[in-house]
Amino acid sequence: MAGMAFLLFLLLHLRSPTVADPDDERCLFNLHQSLEDPNGSLRNWTKSTFASPCNGFTSYLQGATCNNGRVYKLSLPNLSLSGTISPFLSNCTNLQSLDLSSNSISGPIPTSLSSLLNLAVLNLSSNRLSGPIPPQLAFCAYLNVIDLHSNELIGPIPDQIGLLVRLSAFDVSYNRLEGPIPVLLSNRTGVGSGLPRFNASSFVGNKDLYGYPLPPMRGKGLSVLAIVGIGLGSGMLSLVLSFTAVCIWLRVTDQGTSMPGEEGKISHLMPDY
Ligand SMILES: *[C@@H]1O[C@H](CO)[C@@H](O)[C@H](O)[C@H]1NC(C)=O
Ligand SMILES: *[C@@H]1O[C@H](CO)[C@@H](O)[C@H](O)[C@H]1NC(C)=O
Ligand SMILES: *[C@@H]1O[C@H](CO)[C@@H](O)[C@H](O)[C@H]1NC(C)=O
Ligand SMILES: *[C@@H]1O[C@H](CO)[C@@H](O)[C@H](O)[C@H]1NC(C)=O
Repeated sequence: MAGMAFLLFLLLHLRSPTVADPDDERCLFNLHQSLEDPNGSLRNWTKSTFASPCNGFTSYLQGATCNNGRVYKLSLPNLSLSGTISPFLSNCTNLQSLDLSSNSISGPIPTSLSSLLNLAVLNLSSNRLSGPIPPQLAFCAYLNVIDLHSNELIGPIPDQIGLLVRLSAFDVSYNRLEGPIPVLLSNRTGVGSGLPRFNASSFVGNKDLYGYPLPPMRGKGLSVLAIVGIGLGSGMLSLVLSFTAVCIWLRVTDQGTSMPGEEGKISHLMPDY
């Protein structure tokens, strides 16, 4: 049995080596085109390596991990990358993990990522991504990590995201999202704990996102009222104050005109003392 497994392993290992995978090649070539790399972190992402980025389990590309001759992990965090995410990234059809976090990548999250049917980890946090969260991400049924925090994403959290039953980490905090938090995300409980799986920290820092587990909007309404109250109050106060000031000034100048006589009296009295 073990011998069989070993033989199978050998076969798989030998079968894949230098055979170029046209899908991975198209994926890597286009991703390299769409990203900008001011620090030269992707120096060895060259055309010749795209043709055969993997030798079995060995990768020739910085940030890529191979499995059986195919790229299955791309991990390029914190490399000052800018530019955009090529829609052809979806041609890396064996991709299970994509981490482009903590760069300066802009543009949309390509809808085509929905054809990465093996994708389990998607970490695009701390970039400048804009546009909506594609509802089609729900097709990636194995997704268990979606981290999109600290971007410039707009629109609602698609209800379809709630259908990703394996989701164990979800963070869309600090974007410009709006609308209700999908019930299928907010009412999910953690394994064993019975506590909500995703707490407010997954959703804070958005423009107009509302619903459990975020604190009720009532807080926002009150603070608006409070601001109006403070505004009106200070307006009234300054009115009263300036009115009083004018009254005092009028009184002082009024007294001022009758002052000299009095003062004369006093100064006349002084020498006698
Ligand atoms: C590319 O760079 C990575 C990381 O620096 C290294 O592991 C890999 O061997 C390099 N590949 C080639 C072909 O030089
Ligand atoms: C995503 O990447 C960031 C920074 O690179 C890291 O801090 C964060 O923990 C990652 N998210 C998840 C859910 O692992
Ligand atoms: C969450 O809400 C959905 C839809 O309202 C419901 O079908 C599901 O049973 C709820 N799950 C829990 C754990 O409350
Ligand atoms: C929210 O959940 C995260 C992990 O998902 C945890 O680190 C954090 O402490 C939780 N915050 C609160 C207030 O429960």
